[in-house]
Amino acid sequence: MAREEPLTVADVARLAEARLPKELWDYVAGGSGAETTLAANRAALDAVAVLPRVLGGAEAPNPTTRLLGSPAAVPLAVAPMAYQRLLHPDGELATAEAAAVAGVPYVVSTLSSVTVEDIAKTGATTWFQLYWLRSRGLVEALVARAEDAGCEALVVTVDVPIMGRRPRDVRNSFVLPDDVIAAHLDDGALSRAHDAVAGESAIAAHTAAAFAPAVRWADIGWLRNRTSLPLVLKGILDPRDAALAVESGVDAVVVSNHGGRQLDGAAPSVLALPAVAEAVAGRADVYLDSGVRAGTDILRALASGADGVFVGRPVLYGLAVDGVRGAGHVLTLLAAEFRDAMTLAGCADVRAARALSTVRL
Ligand code: FNR
Ligand code: LAC
Repeated sequence: MAREEPLTVADVARLAEARLPKELWDYVAGGSGAETTLAANRAALDAVAVLPRVLGGAEAPNPTTRLLGSPAAVPLAVAPMAYQRLLHPDGELATAEAAAVAGVPYVVSTLSSVTVEDIAKTGATTWFQLYWLRSRGLVEALVARAEDAGCEALVVTVDVPIMGRRPRDVRNSFVLPDDVIAAHLDDGALSRAHDAVAGESAIAAHTAAAFAPAVRWADIGWLRNRTSLPLVLKGILDPRDAALAVESGVDAVVVSNHGGRQLDGAAPSVLALPAVAEAVAGRADVYLDSGVRAGTDILRALASGADGVFVGRPVLYGLAVDGVRGAGHVLTLLAAEFRDAMTLAGCADVRAARALSTVRL
């Protein structure tokens, strides 16, 4: 991205907005309802003020960690995001390659527009994100497919019983172009979100048709017995659900409101994080997503009780601007900012970052 050398994620976002057709920008950048939660995610992260430590004598900080069993060069994973070929012809192949180069896990969406087998060939550490489909047979087939492709964890997203109402997509009658499909659901009708209906989002209609609306804790128990892969539940905000997750044998939870795309009015994830971390009490990893836009946000999340963060839209902005190089630029930027933030906060390693104190603005 030599042309304009964006210095921040906000710079990359501006370039992406300028380059993308409006309906694609709206699908990626937008949220549900009045976008209250979308905005609150940022406001809440901005309101976390860190108390830096001094005179610890640390020189170059060590930002490496482990997320589940997987080594990570920084406490960050690329969040699962659907249909990435909307943004660039290389789609998930580009973002996964960028994750491989950055040394961070890449979470493959059930709704990926490239197959998990092809994504695995990039050499990225992959985790597979599972949406619970209406057909139990299809769920089993996806799990087996993820295992065979070498995925190192299963991430079950639990905050999409239906898709949140997203006015931007409805106004745009958002629909997938013919050449972008749900590559894991490519048997006929299930892969189709391509039929425009005025005043509707075809993606929401597709989700309603394909996803099971009433997944239960017993289903997580079934999955726990069905696979030996580490299990992650993504979309936890209430500490009571975090406790149930641990009791169900889950290895990590992601404190997330889906980037403000599901329940509008849901709590900003960084506000929910401390109570979830307390309920989990070290029995599972705790990750945070929704609104992370800079290395300082990663530090804020760790200081608030997270073991790591997922990053969503910024990676897609990079992808839209310049394919693998753009996505790679975003990950490099976040890693460099995080190292600087560690240094300025007097943290020699990730454990020290997790021990920082915070106050609220
Ligand atoms: C998502 N997200 C998502 N989550 C998931 O579990 N499966 C999916 O297929 C998708 N698809 C998806 C598409 C797009 C375009 C976006 C922006 C998001 C949610 C994602 O994993 C994550 O929770 C949020 O994006 C995190 O918030 P930020 O970092 O985007 O603010
Ligand atoms: C989204 C779905 C696909 O947020 O998770 O768009």
